[in-house]
Amino acid sequence: MHCTRKIRDNLIWVGADDRRLACFEGVYGVPDGVSYNSYLLLDEKTVLFDAVDKAVFEVFFENVAYALSGRKLDYLLISHMEPDHAATIESLLLRYPEARIICNAKEKAMLSQFFLTDFSDRIDLVKEGDVFSSGKHKLTFFMAPMVHWPEVMMTYDKTDKTLFTADAFGTFGALNGRLFNDETDFFVENIGEARRYYTNIVGKYGPQVQAALKKVSALEITTVCPLHGFVWRSHFGDYLEKYMQWSTYTPEEQSVMLAYASVYGHTENAANILAAKLAERGVRVRMYDTSVTPASYIVSDAFRCSHLVFAATTYNAGVFVTMENLLHDLAAHNLQKRKVAIIENGSWAPTSGKVMRELIAPMKNIEFLGENITLKSALAEGQENALTALADVIAEEINPKPVLTESIPAAAPAAEAILDVDSGAFHKFTYGVQVLTTCVDGKDYGCIINSAGQAASGDPKKVTISVIKKNYTADMVAKAGKFNISILTEEAPFDLFKCFGFQSGRDVDKFAGKTWTERTANGIRYIPEYTNAVLSCEVISMEDLDTSVLFVANVVEAKVLSKAPSCTYAYYHAHIKPKKNPAPEQKEAWVCQVCGYVYEGSDLPNDYICPLCKHGKEDFEHIIPAVKKKQKGYVCTICGHFEPCEGELPADYTCPLCKHGREDFEPAEQ
Ligand code: FEO
Repeated sequence: MHCTRKIRDNLIWVGADDRRLACFEGVYGVPDGVSYNSYLLLDEKTVLFDAVDKAVFEVFFENVAYALSGRKLDYLLISHMEPDHAATIESLLLRYPEARIICNAKEKAMLSQFFLTDFSDRIDLVKEGDVFSSGKHKLTFFMAPMVHWPEVMMTYDKTDKTLFTADAFGTFGALNGRLFNDETDFFVENIGEARRYYTNIVGKYGPQVQAALKKVSALEITTVCPLHGFVWRSHFGDYLEKYMQWSTYTPEEQSVMLAYASVYGHTENAANILAAKLAERGVRVRMYDTSVTPASYIVSDAFRCSHLVFAATTYNAGVFVTMENLLHDLAAHNLQKRKVAIIENGSWAPTSGKVMRELIAPMKNIEFLGENITLKSALAEGQENALTALADVIAEEINPKPVLTESIPAAAPAAEAILDVDSGAFHKFTYGVQVLTTCVDGKDYGCIINSAGQAASGDPKKVTISVIKKNYTADMVAKAGKFNISILTEEAPFDLFKCFGFQSGRDVDKFAGKTWTERTANGIRYIPEYTNAVLSCEVISMEDLDTSVLFVANVVEAKVLSKAPSCTYAYYHAHIKPKKNPAPEQKEAWVCQVCGYVYEGSDLPNDYICPLCKHGKEDFEHIIPAVKKKQKGYVCTICGHFEPCEGELPADYTCPLCKHGREDFEPAEQ
């Protein structure tokens, strides 16, 4: 009996789940199963996007016949020739002898390799950028080599703004009746299997994934149809951000993946002690016994975590076999950009540390944390200190202590007599808006400021910046002693302000998933888009301004990036920052849940696209304000946060979102 799902009236999912597969590709356990997706487009011509694995052929053929509803199949479009999608192609084409094949030259070659039947007279070859019309729908083809085989291609249906992505954006796990990403709590329930799928299936091919993402980045996309897992029809940007991190080998989190191989438990004991010390220092540890946990799970978390610790016993004058296999696996998947510590054990001739280093060293951008810690059979008296020292080093990197209080002179005593100060007067200044960036121990930091200005001409020229002390970047600038200022233009999107202004570098890597990687000569990143100049500066003095710290710096490099006008603070408020509140009261509105843009009115057209973030109507919340008493409070002029308050805000109040102080709030009612 058929089992299909409708994506739209003209696009039907005709794939199937497989929960009996023990090992995907013969290697990766799939305890939650896997889905093989196939899609049927019902246009003037019918087009089937890919076939399925032979394990689910029966229901697949029933699905195709049911969805065709008596029509003939005109085309089979092949995105990928791996047999989990292509094994049933020959049977399909024999069942539908009139169907033609849309494929590229590499796929054509593989068709003749996999199947004895000669289909060459039924093939319509396509190449990069070709457009095929099935009637109302115009399909454009994008080659995506090595995502995950060389012949892979993606297809964009311009008519319905749907991207068929082959293996990209797939996940392990059966669909279990669900089809759309919004029918599951994806980032809670499925992200682990999505990460394990990506890292193990295409993790090796990060640059090729980046190239494919770049090709489709300019497309307007409302629906993403991968060959495994969920169809994305909302919030795709969240998943895309994960792909940007994974494909650039950027850790998702500042944490430790600790894998150990232990025969009699002594290496495990040392690993446990280290894990406890890390946990005591506030470091999150994800820990695995390589003899118990399949490598695919450990590879997945190695892509996730910033720091890796490998502990293993010596075995046959080398390293224990499960650890050796794991390290080969990590190297094969091209893992890079990690900090690594090693613990070795050996009762008479410990060699596992040396072998582990040799296996890890060829990986790109790996930094070893100190020398190997060597156990002779078991952790010896006094050797716990070495684990403590390692825990301290890792903890300091992941949660560095603030340095501001130690490195700047104390603030001058408050003036004795301050007359009436109208904070409105400060709003009469004209401020520009900039991104301040710096780099400490290889980690990049940045935040939005509106305080940069030239303080002195001459040689070298001098600038000042004032940064809120609670802002983590202030701490990092003090530590680094150098920074860059990227001057934003009026074209800067709100997302850029959100990224660098509304979250803390303590919690997230603000550069994760960015498509640009440019640095100035001082090694610090800058913002090459939506900016018109960048200045590289070296701190020459710091002054404590109570809530902020003033940095005075020499300019050591400066370059103009564009002629676009600089963004002023006033321009940001007037034209970039979304109007957050559907005020005035009683007005009906639709609020974009992605970027906060407000569309005033009771009816939002079905085809409405958010002018800021380009999300569709499904991402808007319909606000019908209840009649209620206005609440008094203060609104942050920086980020829009409203703080209910009947009286005065406390003198030491800081915005919970952007960390600006009371002086940046103004009275408001909501
Ligand atoms: Fe799902 Fe590369 O096949």
